[in-house]
Amino acid sequence: MSKSYNRLTGKEVRAIAKENKRIMKSLEAYKNRKCDESEYLTTMKSDSNILEIEDLHSYFFTEQGTVKAVNGVSFDIPKYSTVGIVGESGCGKSVTSMSVMRLLQGPTGQIYSGEIRFNAKDESGEKVYDIAKMPIRDIHKIRGNQIAMIFQEPMTSLNPVFTIGQQLDEVTFIHNPKATKEEAKAKSIEMLNLVGIAIPERVYDSFPHELSGGMRQRVMISMALAADPRLIIADEPTTALDVTIQAQILDLLRDLKDKIDGSIMLITHDLGIIAEMADYVVVMYAGRVIEKGPVREIFHNPLHPYTIGLQKSKPTLDSSSDTLFNIPGNVPNPINMPNHCYFKERCSRCTSKCSGDYPGMVEVSPNHFVACHLYGGENND
Ligand SMILES: Nc1ncnc2c1ncn2[C@@H]1O[C@H](COP(=O)(O)OP(=O)(O)OP(=O)(O)O)[C@@H](O)[C@H]1O
Ligand code: SF4
Ligand SMILES: [Mg+2]
Repeated sequence: MSKSYNRLTGKEVRAIAKENKRIMKSLEAYKNRKCDESEYLTTMKSDSNILEIEDLHSYFFTEQGTVKAVNGVSFDIPKYSTVGIVGESGCGKSVTSMSVMRLLQGPTGQIYSGEIRFNAKDESGEKVYDIAKMPIRDIHKIRGNQIAMIFQEPMTSLNPVFTIGQQLDEVTFIHNPKATKEEAKAKSIEMLNLVGIAIPERVYDSFPHELSGGMRQRVMISMALAADPRLIIADEPTTALDVTIQAQILDLLRDLKDKIDGSIMLITHDLGIIAEMADYVVVMYAGRVIEKGPVREIFHNPLHPYTIGLQKSKPTLDSSSDTLFNIPGNVPNPINMPNHCYFKERCSRCTSKCSGDYPGMVEVSPNHFVACHLYGGENND
């Protein structure tokens, strides 16, 4: 913990606690309100997107102050595409995904402002929800069925006391309450087959602890698929697995995107995975998006000094750990972010302009955006 966390006086701590209580109470009341669906229906900026995140702020109201974990994030996920979210540990990747799933742990963790527009589909057709405005009681309309999530460690998401079959069947029952037990089992076996499990009947009758890590991740993916989601969020889905299994799971995810005709939001700190899997890349730094664009652009023409640093720090087959590039310095304290570019203290290319306002996002080529004073146009001059 940095020094500045400990410098608060008793009076300041009490003032923060009082202010936190007031804000958290009002945000919790908003989250738990009852309202008509029309209150959170909206329209997409573009019909070709499945998800549009706009100026999202997700905060943690802690005793030391407000942690702005996601601090004005905007990006789109086009239909039928994979968007990779990349950035160093702590930059807000998971908090962004937890905000989309509305899984932030309240009262401390809250979506403070912004929009999360999602193109949902049900029996009555397509409609667009602003997930950020949905009362928590209505979140079942999208969570787990329209949007499914695959976590890094499957053991924390699987219930150890139920068999894989019981847990998979449950997903079908939630999705289709009229299904018979036989229908649910048939669907579960079909899903296990789809994720490449050779003897699905055996896995169906197993408990989670009886399976290997790779097998459990396959089960998690089959569970995510059982509800035919339109969007899968995979948060570091292969980090806990060994290298061979990692490659298999990534192959599986790639195949499945085509099979389900949906989109994937793939969170990772590994640019190699992004290069292989993604169509678009969003680079995050300290709770903000600093560069985004089509994968070829970001790899062949990275512009932000941080993205360039990330690429240099990527291990390759012929680099030994001694020669790895490391971006020097640390991310600023998330409680007291400066007004200027957050990367300034680590940037070797900074100029006098960089002590001014935080750089605006500019489009440097079609769909390639960067927030850095080096690339200007009118916004950053
Ligand atoms: N419950 C919490 N209370 C306070 N701060 C939190 C909490 N959860 C996350 N944060 C802070 O939010 C910021 C973003 O965290 P997040 O988990 O989104 O990072 P990440 O990019 O997913 O990192 P990693 O690659 O390590 O998973 C970090 O500064 C983290 O310390
Ligand atoms: S705005 Fe300035 S300090 Fe920030 S990344 Fe660009 S050059 Fe570096
Ligand atoms: Mg994370």
